[in-house]
Amino acid sequence: MTSLEPMTRTADGLGTAELPPAIAPFDLKAYLKERQATVETALDRALPMAYPETVYDAMRYSLLAGGKRLRPILCLAACELVGGTQAQALPTACALEMIHTMSLIHDDLPSMDNDDYRRGKLTNHKVYGESVAILAGDGLLAYAFEYVATATEGVSADRVLRAIAILGKAVGAAGLVGGQVVDLASEGNPDTTLETLEYIHLHKTAALLEACVTTGATLGGASDRVVEQLGQYARAIGLAFQIIDDILDITSTTEVLGKSAGKDLDAQKATYPSLLGLEESRDRARQLIDQAKAQLEEFGDAAAPLSALADYIVARQH
Ligand code: IPE
Ligand code: IPE
Ligand code: MG
Ligand code: MG
Ligand code: MG
Repeated sequence: MTSLEPMTRTADGLGTAELPPAIAPFDLKAYLKERQATVETALDRALPMAYPETVYDAMRYSLLAGGKRLRPILCLAACELVGGTQAQALPTACALEMIHTMSLIHDDLPSMDNDDYRRGKLTNHKVYGESVAILAGDGLLAYAFEYVATATEGVSADRVLRAIAILGKAVGAAGLVGGQVVDLASEGNPDTTLETLEYIHLHKTAALLEACVTTGATLGGASDRVVEQLGQYARAIGLAFQIIDDILDITSTTEVLGKSAGKDLDAQKATYPSLLGLEESRDRARQLIDQAKAQLEEFGDAAAPLSALADYIVARQH
């Protein structure tokens, strides 16, 4: 044998056969751990304490309360997939978590879902009072945009501007705000249609998850076509993400979730399980994940992180 290629005896011992090069399976657990650490450090640095301490303390209380950090991780992954660097997307990744945290603080308010626990801790208004909680959310939202504009480096001004426009659309009345309005308006309405429910979930949750991926890809230099294609991946995982959130509200516990379980039924929320039942909701989420992963095919192994993140969304326990 002169070849330097790895050779091996075949099972029958009669000859030799080449093995395909060993491809290490993607280690999502290690990946999440490493990315979560990067994001935690970056968030802590992005929002230092300042005067007036009350509102900065309230902003940091919720922003640094843990959480899966899925949104920033998706943003970083999309940027890298299209050939960008983590550094190019890190300020926007932090901004996405600031916007998400604002949405949680406001979602938990007595006038909205009226929740006492979030991320395993008392909700923001329970600790700081309602007026400071509203203002802490406002502060996080405004600072998110300032931070993308001032802290992004190594990206053309044109692409930073596009990312800011994507964020604004995702969080406003055409996105998250619109979804939350229809979510609240549908409470207690047993006649909510599947079409309305899909609108709610696509807007209150999927819009921001889509923005994570499309801003990441935009900052990384992707073409419009690739941004659009990755946006389709993200819309599908975003809808699946909220379907699983609805399921976990029924099947999990307050302890595991870090937020009060069983609230959707009490509040007569329109959810996938309330319309379709648990099994059909699970099937729907799995179908959406398959659809999402189909959008990644052309990227080959480079899309392993986004593909594994899609699987994680349906498999997650909290
Ligand atoms: C909760 O989001 C709000 C929804 C959109 C369902 P996450 O489940 O991502 O919450 P954290 O960030 O991990 O706390
Ligand atoms: C949350 O939907 C959507 C936003 C926060 C925008 P939910 O109200 O179901 O989220 P949880 O269950 O309180 O996290
Ligand atoms: Mg809600
Ligand atoms: Mg809620
Ligand atoms: Mg929920």
